[in-house]
Amino acid sequence: MDLRLQSIGKSFGGQSVLRDVALELTNVQALVLIGPSGGGKSTLLRMLAGLEPPTTGTVTLEGEPLHYHDDDALRRHRARTGFVFQAHNLFPHLTATENLLLPLVQVHGMTQDAALEQIDTLLRRFHLSDHAHKRPSQLSGGQQQRVAIARAVAIRPRWLLFDEPTSALDPEMTAEVLDMIAELRAEGRSFVLVTHQMGFARRVADHVAFVGFGGIPEHGQPADIFDQPRTPELKRFLHRVLSY
Ligand SMILES: Nc1ncnc2c1ncn2[C@@H]1O[C@H](COP(=O)(O)OP(=O)(O)OP(=O)(O)O)[C@@H](O)[C@H]1O
Ligand SMILES: [Mg+2]
Repeated sequence: MDLRLQSIGKSFGGQSVLRDVALELTNVQALVLIGPSGGGKSTLLRMLAGLEPPTTGTVTLEGEPLHYHDDDALRRHRARTGFVFQAHNLFPHLTATENLLLPLVQVHGMTQDAALEQIDTLLRRFHLSDHAHKRPSQLSGGQQQRVAIARAVAIRPRWLLFDEPTSALDPEMTAEVLDMIAELRAEGRSFVLVTHQMGFARRVADHVAFVGFGGIPEHGQPADIFDQPRTPELKRFLHRVLSY
């Protein structure tokens, strides 16, 4: 993906979270956002998803600026974005299959038969076929999150946005979900991932941005970010998160 942030600012009720953020990335497949709690990672991701307009500045994806005040353009952008949140946010009363079916039929206008065929392939591909008829409450946390990722992939998005997809999971379920994300990377999908898993960030990212302190104090290749941090903010952050 080609992604450019120009002079991005974001305030909530006069409280500034991001100020004059700039980032220009060309041909990046996996961008990972790390940083302190409350630093603005989710805010930035929601902005990329078209769910939240920046207060100032421009976001440009694949050379096209996002038009936050054009409802049709925003809807199109969201329909081409696969978003996976921290908690899976599957519909509780629907089975796994129905959770995937709904956006395909209602947002993307697929016929039920075509959608079901595609869903079947996808669930098989991610070893979820045995769970197709279960509702979220009948699935483990890891399985729920994998269904949520399959749902994001099902819409054939141009990119995926993951906001701490493993933060509610135990280590084994975390590994299941991270394996799935690593597979998506291997098949060439572009994504932006927010994570507190530094080991995984390093392995999967081709670019890491450190978000916090009102902006992006530092960004670069994973090896540079993790082995040779330059700013005191990033040094302190890594020292803290890597000490446990
Ligand atoms: N809708 C909102 N209204 C008011 N303040 C908000 C809103 N969304 C976020 N904020 C504030 O913006 C700041 C950044 O929040 P954000 O959720 O982006 O942080 P984060 O980096 O994702 O943190 P975490 O790692 O804990 O998820 C926080 O101070 C938060 O309270
Ligand atoms: Mg967050």
